[in-house]
Amino acid sequence: MTGLDRSATVAQIVTAHAVAARVFQKHRIDFCCHGNVTVPEACRERRLDPDAVFAELEAILPADGREDAGDPRALPTASLIDRIVARHHGYLRSQLPYLGPLVAKVASVHGGRNAKLVAVEETFRELAETLGPHVDHEEAVVFPALLAPLPDAATVRRELDEMLDDHRAVGGLLARLRELTDGFTTPEWGCNTYRVVMHELEALEADVLRHVHLENHVLMPRFAGAGGAPC
Ligand SMILES: [Fe+2]
Ligand SMILES: [Fe+2]
Repeated sequence: MTGLDRSATVAQIVTAHAVAARVFQKHRIDFCCHGNVTVPEACRERRLDPDAVFAELEAILPADGREDAGDPRALPTASLIDRIVARHHGYLRSQLPYLGPLVAKVASVHGGRNAKLVAVEETFRELAETLGPHVDHEEAVVFPALLAPLPDAATVRRELDEMLDDHRAVGGLLARLRELTDGFTTPEWGCNTYRVVMHELEALEADVLRHVHLENHVLMPRFAGAGGAPC
């Protein structure tokens, strides 16, 4: 018996059980910016069998119905923000500069054989150019506005709306990367660098989706009364 509520939205399932993100990511079910649908609704859109997806979820969730350790909903806002910055912003600050040259190398060496690699490089660059300033802005402006003793409703509304726009753009770029790389697969002829790039891009997708999920579905709803518009 798992703690899976079949009437919950995919976003709620990931909030309660972070590990469920793996199943949704594998089936390209968006639990971030379009996560306010139930599993059967999401499955209908992607032509998947909901019973099969529920079975996969039940296999991966803790058998005793306990929620995952460290449920982010239990964290005070300042601690939640600290976690986002330390885990997810820190990850991006180390991974984006490391991955950029590797993606460029694979595109220049193998772009003749697989023309999509050139589009992968362009999409990755756009993603990095969006995410870098995005996390800087969150830390410099958005998070301090949320943590102010008396948050200014107009500022909070404006900042959260902009944050959502960025998240939607990032979600679109990640979906494009997955599409262009056929689900981050390496062809038989691919070299080790190609393999590393596919692996790291998939890990980047997983981390960014969890990151955006925390911001959209755990952090933002706390400010809905101040004018925030959680998606
Ligand atoms: Fe963030
Ligand atoms: Fe964000």
